[in-house]
Amino acid sequence: MWTKSVLILVFIGSCFSYPSPTKRYDGHSVLQILPKTIGDVHELMSLAQKYHLDIWKSPRFLNETFDVRVNPEQIANFVHDVESLGLKAKQWIIDLQKLIDNTEPTRSRRATSFSTGAFNDHASINSYLDSLASNSRVTVHSMGHTYEGRTIKYIKISNNVGSSKKAIYVDGGIHAREWLAVSTVLYMIDQMAHNPTHDRTIETLLGTFDFYFAPVVNPDGYEYSRTQDRMWRKNRRPVIHGCNGVDLNRNFAYHWNPDNGGSHNPCEEVHSGTHASSEIETRNIQNFLCGHGNLLAYLNVHTYGQYWIYPWGYTPVLPADYRDLDHLGRTAATAIRHTHGKSFTVGEDTRVLYAAAGGADDYAKGACGVKYSYTVELRDTGLHGFVAPTSYIIPAGEETFAGFKAFATELIRYEHL
Ligand code: ARG
Ligand code: ZN
Repeated sequence: MWTKSVLILVFIGSCFSYPSPTKRYDGHSVLQILPKTIGDVHELMSLAQKYHLDIWKSPRFLNETFDVRVNPEQIANFVHDVESLGLKAKQWIIDLQKLIDNTEPTRSRRATSFSTGAFNDHASINSYLDSLASNSRVTVHSMGHTYEGRTIKYIKISNNVGSSKKAIYVDGGIHAREWLAVSTVLYMIDQMAHNPTHDRTIETLLGTFDFYFAPVVNPDGYEYSRTQDRMWRKNRRPVIHGCNGVDLNRNFAYHWNPDNGGSHNPCEEVHSGTHASSEIETRNIQNFLCGHGNLLAYLNVHTYGQYWIYPWGYTPVLPADYRDLDHLGRTAATAIRHTHGKSFTVGEDTRVLYAAAGGADDYAKGACGVKYSYTVELRDTGLHGFVAPTSYIIPAGEETFAGFKAFATELIRYEHL
């Protein structure tokens, strides 16, 4: 009898308790600071470096905020330093842990069956992709394994009519904590593979293009952010004792340079790796990008900030064909705005955001010749930042997919395909 009730208690306990090793963010705040001059931006960057802060968003335009996460021990000193620059620090997210706890993601961590309306775990995403193979337009592939041995899957969607079509490739989840990027790529997959609304545009697009989608290109980091640390960004390879992870979007082998928006320090969020493409995940994506000579466009999907931006990320010098990239980016942004009213900023990486070498977008264009290469930063502009609520999943999917269809449709006209 006694054993039985202990067993029952253990059983109940394991159903209702959260996985305990999860890193907590009690009392962590996200501050928003509005710089007045470009000098202020530089001062803020060096302050953030001094305190080893997690920069969430750094502005290039003076009407945009600098968002940064501070822990409770640092906040007083940091705010003091900000105020001595003559700037105000607004406590935007007051207790990050509360925000994490109040958003569906925490509860859906234990979700095991796949749903397009949820943040799914990597295993269910992979089995969902496998299940699409029964669709005659879909084939399922692997671009290789991760450090921890997970499979990076991608799918190809094609109407299988005609040959030597141009192709468009979309990936998500290169940064672990950006779950909305993963859910949005999955939303797009679902629409493209099933076309539930019998949308003629999708049929037209499949008449001209083949499509590739890889929803989770950093699955080790993604799973770690689901089970251990919601704010994890990098991959999971142990680099030195006590510090894991390389920022994959600083690790690509085109003008790789840790001193340009990355870091030599393995303990930093933007560690660029010990050398260009030091990471297996980076090499897999690079091989995919350069191994498909018919790629015309690439979207590397992130959150947040609402940007549709293009190379170069390593230099403010514009690519010779930037007008083409700009035009197509604006077409997407307009369609996005017409969906749920969200404004996306279009421009070159370093002019809109910040300089950062070793990005996937630069590699696709510079090393593989993928002309229309973009970084797409989804919702929002800081209200939830990286901790997107589940209520964003469908609307973000809808607006991004609308932008994507308008982009691909205009590409056909613009490139005379
Ligand atoms: N938020 C993205 C990152 O930090 C922006 C990347 C833009 N592209 C670039 N090559 N810098 O990775
Ligand atoms: Zn990102």
